[in-house]
Amino acid sequence: MVSIFHSLKITGRFAPGPALLLVLFIGCGKTEFPFQPNELYTAGLMRESGEGEPRLIAAEASSMVAKWFGTSDSPSIPDFLLEAGVSDLDMEKVLRCAGPVGRAEDEIERGLFRKHCVSCHGITGDGYGLAASLLAPYPRDFRRGTFKFKSTPSGYKPTREDLIHTLTHGIPGTAMPSFAALEESREFAHDIENLAEYVRYLAIRGEIERKLIAKVVREGLNLSEENAEAQQIAIAVARRWQESESAKVSVPSPPTMTESELAESIQRGKEWYASELTACVKCHGPDGLGNGLSQDYDEWTKDWTVLAGIDPKHPKDWKEMKRFGGLKPVIDRPRNFAWHAYRGGDDREDLFRRLVLGIEGTPMPPIARAQGGNPGLTDAQIWDVVHYVLSLGRKG
Ligand code: HEC
Ligand code: HEC
Repeated sequence: MVSIFHSLKITGRFAPGPALLLVLFIGCGKTEFPFQPNELYTAGLMRESGEGEPRLIAAEASSMVAKWFGTSDSPSIPDFLLEAGVSDLDMEKVLRCAGPVGRAEDEIERGLFRKHCVSCHGITGDGYGLAASLLAPYPRDFRRGTFKFKSTPSGYKPTREDLIHTLTHGIPGTAMPSFAALEESREFAHDIENLAEYVRYLAIRGEIERKLIAKVVREGLNLSEENAEAQQIAIAVARRWQESESAKVSVPSPPTMTESELAESIQRGKEWYASELTACVKCHGPDGLGNGLSQDYDEWTKDWTVLAGIDPKHPKDWKEMKRFGGLKPVIDRPRNFAWHAYRGGDDREDLFRRLVLGIEGTPMPPIARAQGGNPGLTDAQIWDVVHYVLSLGRKG
């Protein structure tokens, strides 16, 4: 049923009556592109114990989460989250992104996620879209609940504004495109906001699923909708998303400088960069070419390597995870500053934010910032480092 709707690409000119639409939407209650169970994570967790069938546990967790959060055509949120006052998801926005691409009887376009994102991030937001294995870095799996480019400290979720920033500007130097063009059209002006809300929905749904799987595998949790422990897990995840807005770290205004003051600032920044206190050289190398001695694997690929007790350096071992969808483990390279490709933005404020917050889910640590008696760099010294890093980028 849904596939008819999908292939007809129903538009205003060819709009079926409300009754037919109702049938098309509700259909036979089946969705053609269901959320996928998280088999890879389950298999990673279970590999060392060697007991039980990962696919079975993953399927059970998936169907339990579906009772709470609905399907990719018809998303929902469970009452207990609303009752606990921890869900701030705007379901009107979420619904616009869900389902097949097309227009509903109110003429409003739906299926925004399938239209714009699914080829890379997959229907479930698991990062296993058709193009995923060809891309470096890989598209992100939102279900991990970890986001890199945000204005909140490590351990906190991104704010809505952070996700909107990522969608508007894209992630330069990666396949993640900018969707700024949507904002310029009257019809699609709010699509970025809607899509940001859908990312929150997929991330909340997916992280709850992950946490439940971990509880089942490690502690034998009995999965049932009414289980208070399972509900508490869901409440804790949703609460973290609600708390993000209040955790936002603001960035001071960048200093105004004459050309010669800037040259001095760059010189001071160079010294901080090379100092033991910042340790930048360890990863980015003495000239900032991203060739330091410390290099680590992409944290997301550790789900099916390190977590499963597999050394990512040994292809023979990780290949056994391929049947659950595991991709080749890759190194998360420290940035080469000569490229001048800054994923979180190249304004001075963006770089200051990256330095003081680090990049969560990657080896990039927050810089030691002198605050409340803690030893570290003052804000003026951090601006020096920002100026030095930017001075290494190729111009034009
Ligand atoms: C052509 C492939 C592609 C498409 C299409 C795409 N993305 Fe991405 N996306 C990526 C890649 C690759 C990354 C990882 C970049 C990185 O890790 O630095 C990413 C990362 C992200 C992130 C994580 C940012 C962070 O802070 O960690 C979000 C959120 C995101 N994409 C949302 C979307 C949404 C929503 C859409 C559709 C509107 C979309 N993407 C479409 C490839 C894509
Ligand atoms: C332990 C290793 C490590 C150390 C130490 C480290 N970095 Fe990084 N840095 C990384 C990695 C890895 C990335 C790429 C992360 C990603 O985007 O996936 C990165 C990314 C960056 C970026 C890119 C931000 C963007 O928006 O693209 C900047 C700028 C940066 N580092 C500056 C620094 C500076 C300055 C220092 C010292 C104060 C430093 N780093 C210390 C590993 C490190």
